[in-house]
Amino acid sequence: MNFLSIKKLLAQDTVENQSVAVRGWLRSKRDSKAGISFLSLHDGSCFASLQVVAPQSLNNYESEVLKLTSGCALEVCGDLVCSKGGEQNLEIQASQITVVGWVQNPDTYPIAKKRHSFEFLRTQAHLRPRTNTFTAITQIRNTLANAIHNYFYKNNFYWINTPIITSSDCEGAGELFRVSTLDFLSRSSSVDSKSDFEKDFFGEETFLTVSGQLEVEAYCLAMGKVYTFGPTFRAENSNTSRHLAEFWMVEPEVAFANLRDNIDLAENFLKSILSVVINECQEELNFFEKRINPTVINRIMDLINTDFQRIEYSEAVKILKSSKESFEFPVSWGKDLASEHERYLAERYVQGPLVISNYPREIKAFYMRLNDDEKTVAAMDILVPGIGEIIGGSQREERLEILDDRMDPHLVDKLWWYRDLRRYGSVPHAGFGLGFERLLNYVTGMENIRDAIPYPRYPGHAEF
Ligand code: 4AD
Ligand code: MG
Repeated sequence: MNFLSIKKLLAQDTVENQSVAVRGWLRSKRDSKAGISFLSLHDGSCFASLQVVAPQSLNNYESEVLKLTSGCALEVCGDLVCSKGGEQNLEIQASQITVVGWVQNPDTYPIAKKRHSFEFLRTQAHLRPRTNTFTAITQIRNTLANAIHNYFYKNNFYWINTPIITSSDCEGAGELFRVSTLDFLSRSSSVDSKSDFEKDFFGEETFLTVSGQLEVEAYCLAMGKVYTFGPTFRAENSNTSRHLAEFWMVEPEVAFANLRDNIDLAENFLKSILSVVINECQEELNFFEKRINPTVINRIMDLINTDFQRIEYSEAVKILKSSKESFEFPVSWGKDLASEHERYLAERYVQGPLVISNYPREIKAFYMRLNDDEKTVAAMDILVPGIGEIIGGSQREERLEILDDRMDPHLVDKLWWYRDLRRYGSVPHAGFGLGFERLLNYVTGMENIRDAIPYPRYPGHAEF
């Protein structure tokens, strides 16, 4: 039997009673009194389901078709015809329905037709891809990931696979997950001091990476334009709708580039990948607009069509201070912006994407380039409405003496190889990191970042 995907079937404009075979999972079923059942079949190939009309004359109509419930796996043969019903153009008049997998105890099947809360669906992470919402998120996530790789490929960037296990803390925030083969439970091998890690697998303390930046910088200073795109890990105990302990990050890095080039790249990159989603995911975006957030398509179009506003940190502080908003956290020069400040600036003040640059040196990482004022560094964050910070980046400190000065003394030995890059043909270079799941929340309008990744990891949750 030659099975076709529902996507292929539905892509046809006209049909002349063509005989076809499809397979997938039953989303829902309605039995009419006239002895016909209407089945909605989904196979993952596209967002839409296919309507299957099952007549009483099927030999297993009474014994099986009437007993089918949501989630059953089926093979269907029949004629593809133009549909008389309202919602779809095409349907299958079934001549044979084979049940490949029953749903045992349908009463216990968690993904029934009714609408579930996203909180509940997180407890069913293995079955939630069978819902409309998670089908659509999965499709958009896939399209975006491809658009990202294509963007860089077309623009002659090399994709560098940076390590997941590392011994350095790129962001210096101490939010690291330890990687070790030492037996922490047995008393004989107890770990009392740092030197005990000499006995560990790698002969030193190692962790899951928080960012591939330091390693990708080395490739940048040989290959010119590079990026890394992979999982990153942060043991920050933030139970918020914007933080995951495991998330995917896209980090381009460009040689002979300054902060302005970096912002230009970020703006062009975002516009370009979002245009791909607008062109390729119309059905999914219409779903999100109708069911999740009525502004999603508009805000994507706004981002594509308007120049990003650019201001300096000092200006942002002035705007916040003179606003009439009552913030929970006070604003003053030298303090990092809280999420309420970022959202006020993007949502109320600019009502669109906003780039803030030149932050105080004290609140930013050691690798960011010191500006001539010696008070600020060449850093930039991009904020968008509904999310806040979606991108963080900077021009890197390419001058060894200043880098050493900004480094924590214990790092000077540890990052000898990173310092080498400043000794052997150092050039100005810059890059940024885009949080892939934050981007997905922006595109889909989903509120919680735990719904933007198949299996979310956050404090207390690693079940699946
Ligand atoms: O601002 P961050 O920490 O920057 C870096 O890691 C740099 N090394 C990037 C670079 O310059 N190459 O993180 C970058 C982005 C943030 O803007 C945010 O979108 C996302 O990563 N992000 C998170 N996303 C989900 N959960 C978390 N816990 C995140 N922390 C950061
Ligand atoms: Mg940041």
